[in-house]
Amino acid sequence: MPLPTPPSPISVLEKSKQLAAWTAVDQHVRPEHRVRIAMLCSTVPYVVERIVQLGAEANQERVFIPTGFQSKELIVSSGLSLGDVDQFPTIDVTLDGADEVDTQLNCIKGGGACHLREKVLAEAADTFILVADYRKNVQYLGTNFTPGIPIEVVPFAYAKVLQNLHHILGSPKASLRMAVKKAGPVVSDNGNFIIDAPFDQETMKTPYTIMAQIKMLTGVVEVGVFCNMAKAAYFGNEDGSVTIR
Ligand code: 5RP
Repeated sequence: MPLPTPPSPISVLEKSKQLAAWTAVDQHVRPEHRVRIAMLCSTVPYVVERIVQLGAEANQERVFIPTGFQSKELIVSSGLSLGDVDQFPTIDVTLDGADEVDTQLNCIKGGGACHLREKVLAEAADTFILVADYRKNVQYLGTNFTPGIPIEVVPFAYAKVLQNLHHILGSPKASLRMAVKKAGPVVSDNGNFIIDAPFDQETMKTPYTIMAQIKMLTGVVEVGVFCNMAKAAYFGNEDGSVTIR
């Protein structure tokens, strides 16, 4: 009779995400806190995992606020109480992932097309904390995350925004994000399109400036660059340590 297969060990990358998430929860989720959970992101399930480990009693009074469908599903399936930003426009802690974080705690978000809601929820938080694996820890944005800055645009304006990104802001490779197998454009939870706009390294050294310029383009709803928002970032490392910035 064949022996049962042991559960496959968690990969180094997944372990680093888990470490970052668990450490951030342990440091920032206090008994009196309501917690907002912002996703779509591969690290946040580990945030939820740690919060669930705190126990039903600790979470009894807490309300968890998602940014979209997937985070809502996770909150509900984990037995946590669901809330809404309409009810709780001020929240104690937001824990979220990122595509890249620089040494000043500026970050790129929106790889999952969720950055508008994530920015709303990051702004609403007293404390906004980033959790990520070692690949996201960079000196300057745009180092490893090459698709560029995610930009949510109203569908009517996407061609004009693309043209302006090319001609005015010098991002000739900016492109409309397409769904898998190019079935059509990716549509955000808000019914908008996403443009990815890569910029040269010099431009990315001053992320606030380029973020503000993009935001001025008519038709742009939100830009996936978050500046001066995060209070701390937790990066899980390959060797099992956590870098806290
Ligand atoms: C979604 C996001 C995510 O936080 C970001 O894309 C990181 O995701 P992952 O952990 O899956 O790489 O901003 O809009």
